Amino acid sequence: MVGGGQLARMMAPAATALGFELRVLAESDDVSAVSAVPSSPVGDYKDLETLLEFSKGLDVMTFDHEHVPPAHLRALQEAGVNVQPGPDALVHAQDKLVMRAAIDRLELPNPVWASVSDVAALVAFGEETGWPVVLKTPRGGYDGKGVRIISSPAEAAETGDWFEAMSPLLAEAKVEFTRELSALVARTPDGEARAWPVVHTVQVDGVCDEVIAPALDIPVEVAAAAEDAALRIASELDVTGVLAVELFETPGTGAGFLVNELAMRPHNTGHWTQDGSVTSQFEQHLRAVLNLPLGATDALAPVVVMKNFLGGDNQDLFSAYPLALASEPAAKVHCYGKSVRPGRKIGHVNLTGTSTADVDDVRRRAAVVAGIIRDGRVPAEEPAAILEENA
Ligand SMILES: Nc1ncnc2c1ncn2[C@@H]1O[C@H](COP(=O)(O)OP(=O)(O)O)[C@@H](O)[C@H]1O
Ligand SMILES: [Mg+2]
Repeated sequence: MVGGGQLARMMAPAATALGFELRVLAESDDVSAVSAVPSSPVGDYKDLETLLEFSKGLDVMTFDHEHVPPAHLRALQEAGVNVQPGPDALVHAQDKLVMRAAIDRLELPNPVWASVSDVAALVAFGEETGWPVVLKTPRGGYDGKGVRIISSPAEAAETGDWFEAMSPLLAEAKVEFTRELSALVARTPDGEARAWPVVHTVQVDGVCDEVIAPALDIPVEVAAAAEDAALRIASELDVTGVLAVELFETPGTGAGFLVNELAMRPHNTGHWTQDGSVTSQFEQHLRAVLNLPLGATDALAPVVVMKNFLGGDNQDLFSAYPLALASEPAAKVHCYGKSVRPGRKIGHVNLTGTSTADVDDVRRRAAVVAGIIRDGRVPAEEPAAILEENA
């Protein structure tokens, strides 16, 4: 796996269980995956020689992120390396303009969008579709970095620095969605594919904060259409491994959803599968890129909640464990071993519920565990009884 972030780290238990040797090309010796993966050489994924050296002896090369230059991926293929997903698929996760054009070509539902090369073009787009609009850097963005809401021609005039750094940019109509959804699938090179249930994802400031699996109260035909769209994207774009299709739910218009973006790797909106599905997205990604039969994707409980925790007040996460783990014995804590920095994704909590009617309670309890680890104390809005309940 190229890249040593938390996705590579969480791949390790799945590889161990199946008896595969996982190797990680790490950005430095203190990234998340290094302490979990014995073979983690440090090297620059932007350097072709480093990639070629790393590829020696691999059955398959896959990725923790989408930033390896496409030309390097082609060179690796020419050198005989089994790269999954391949560059022609991966470009749709690397470049949002390429992705938008492909979604149009597949006649799947896109927001109104345009490729804009300067401020004047952005203003023209806003005047035509109506303000506000969303301006995105097509490449290199993540967790809302590279996404900017532009409310007026005056604000558009202040985007010159973005056009200087990258041009063209992607302009989109700002979608009035009711929820954000994610349709997660996996596909093998031979074309076997499986989907997990469509989930509801809650984003805060452009960062995934919480996932509720499955998305509750979604019309069955909308969920089925979203799943079909993800499977179709996987097959038409020849995606291998896990594909996440981020969606905006738009009830009563068209298909009931619009495509937001694609990711071709395990995804934050799939972390619930670690403790809530027969096959986790990490195991499935390994099976898929190795062209092995895929695992069942059934949920293990009527509702599963995943709650992220970002870096906050508490620098010493383990000091909060006695309180956090006592507050909710059923919670599964996944900690990424990263240093704490404000707003940085450092872990998540999975918690299953026995009935969809309990969803609000499951969400609250998962949030308490995550909040205690983040802040080192019980969230102020929680009654002290939270600990006594479970003592
Ligand atoms: N066209 C849009 N309309 C409304 N909200 C949007 C739009 N595009 C993005 N967003 C919001 O910004 C978030 C991040 O945008 P996204 O394109 O997914 O970037 P990233 O690559 O950082 O995940 C989305 O999850 C959504 O909350
Ligand atoms: Mg996104």
